[in-house]
Amino acid sequence: MTPTLEPSLPWSDALLLGYPEMDAEHREFVELVGRLQSAPDEELGAHLAAFEVHARRHFGTEDTWMEETGFPPRDCHQKEHAAVLQSLEEVQALHAAFGRCDVVRSFADELARWFPGHADYLDSALAAWMSKRRHGGRPVVLRRGAAVSEPG
Ligand SMILES: [Fe+2]
Ligand SMILES: [Fe+2]
Repeated sequence: MTPTLEPSLPWSDALLLGYPEMDAEHREFVELVGRLQSAPDEELGAHLAAFEVHARRHFGTEDTWMEETGFPPRDCHQKEHAAVLQSLEEVQALHAAFGRCDVVRSFADELARWFPGHADYLDSALAAWMSKRRHGGRPVVLRRGAAVSEPG
């Protein structure tokens, strides 16, 4: 069965956090989750593999930033990353062994629900922290035509 669903989390500049390396990863995350939701069944294995490469790099980079800079509230942030990677492994195993595309679709839907909150509460604090270290200030988020300084 090929889904006719549209990705449920389209990219929006509202997701920008003002730390360019992180914003680039987040754009890619949204794109790859969208593919897991909308690609034909026969392409799902390849998209899952691409998502795994992305997720390990994306979460690994954030984890490394938190460790290298001694970011104080890193515990629950790293735990969320680890939980997603754990689920990913389970989903990949079910897909590889039994061709369970339904499990992949549910996982993608769950990722699309999870991500905005994760970005808002956890990644945004890390983006602010990293920008501060780099520029000595809070990030400036540029959204179509308007420069918005994050409230500090
Ligand atoms: Fe992130
Ligand atoms: Fe994160």
